Amino acid sequence: MTLTVLTPPELVEEDPLDLMDEIDALKKEKDAVILSHFYVDGDLQEIADFTGDSLKLARDATTVTAGTIVFCGVHFMGESAKILSPDKRVLMPDLQAGCSLADSCPADKLAAYQQELRAKGHDFQTVAYINTTAAVKSLCDWIVTSGNAREIIDRVPADKEILFVPDQHLGRYLSEVTGRKMILWPGSCMVHEVFSIQDLLRAKRNNPGSIILAHPECPHSILEHADMIGGTEKMRQYVASVKEPTKFLVATEANMIYPLQKLAPWHEYLPVPGIMASTGETCACNRCPHMARNTLQKVRNCLRDGKPEIEWQPYFAKAQDVLRRSLLK
Ligand code: 13P
Ligand code: SF4
Repeated sequence: MTLTVLTPPELVEEDPLDLMDEIDALKKEKDAVILSHFYVDGDLQEIADFTGDSLKLARDATTVTAGTIVFCGVHFMGESAKILSPDKRVLMPDLQAGCSLADSCPADKLAAYQQELRAKGHDFQTVAYINTTAAVKSLCDWIVTSGNAREIIDRVPADKEILFVPDQHLGRYLSEVTGRKMILWPGSCMVHEVFSIQDLLRAKRNNPGSIILAHPECPHSILEHADMIGGTEKMRQYVASVKEPTKFLVATEANMIYPLQKLAPWHEYLPVPGIMASTGETCACNRCPHMARNTLQKVRNCLRDGKPEIEWQPYFAKAQDVLRRSLLK
């Protein structure tokens, strides 16, 4: 008897160049544009019509004239694009691309905590990082990204306390730079949480004159050694402003090196390694497994099939108010 083993279609190897050509043709045929976050693979940044950080991509989504947006990023980003551009069809290569920060703050838990704080007499506004679900956003007064956080915090009336969700590290950093006292939700990003401070310090010692760039999602132990703290767009602007060839140690998702290299190729970029909490070993955990769900094959498939799609939900309407107020005004 002959046994035939079938390979699932997603595991069949396809030539990346053929896939890119197919994607280009499908974009025209389906009247679609591609938005790619800086943390997806370089190939997906190359085929994009817009690349950027969370703030820029959310804004870009509102300027698109095509009928369909394909969002190469994670779920909360596609959701925000749909909320800000409800007339567009928003497709995602993989709807399972989530985010550990968004997962750490379920809407029912946040609502219960807000009620508890009010019952204890706290007079506060809730500020959420954009890395949250739409259901959480609908419970908040303001949304921040790494690109506009300081400016938004300044809009919270001085007599109000601030409940900051869900990233404790970003919240602590913002509290330090703005001088505002904050009640912090205990969430964190699985990628930025694991940078190895020991390896960072070794890399710094072995590369004299190098500059450490760190995303504010990193824990305090990393941020205190950073020469520049900023979101992904700020990192780009910073390296472009340094004209002297320099070595940069990059403490954020490792794909970020792709746009840095593209914009300022005269520098050298070294990724800061992560460390596995269970074994203490250095690992490649500076790659976001959710962002990694985006592939050329899945982009082609979602363009071809018109799915999976982010469907409008009734609770998006409330999240729309807060997103528009925070990101577009
Ligand atoms: P920014 O691109 O806004 O800096 O965000 C980083 C991030 O973690 C996105 O998930
Ligand atoms: Fe979420 Fe962290 Fe991945 Fe960004 S890098 S999508 S914050 S898990």
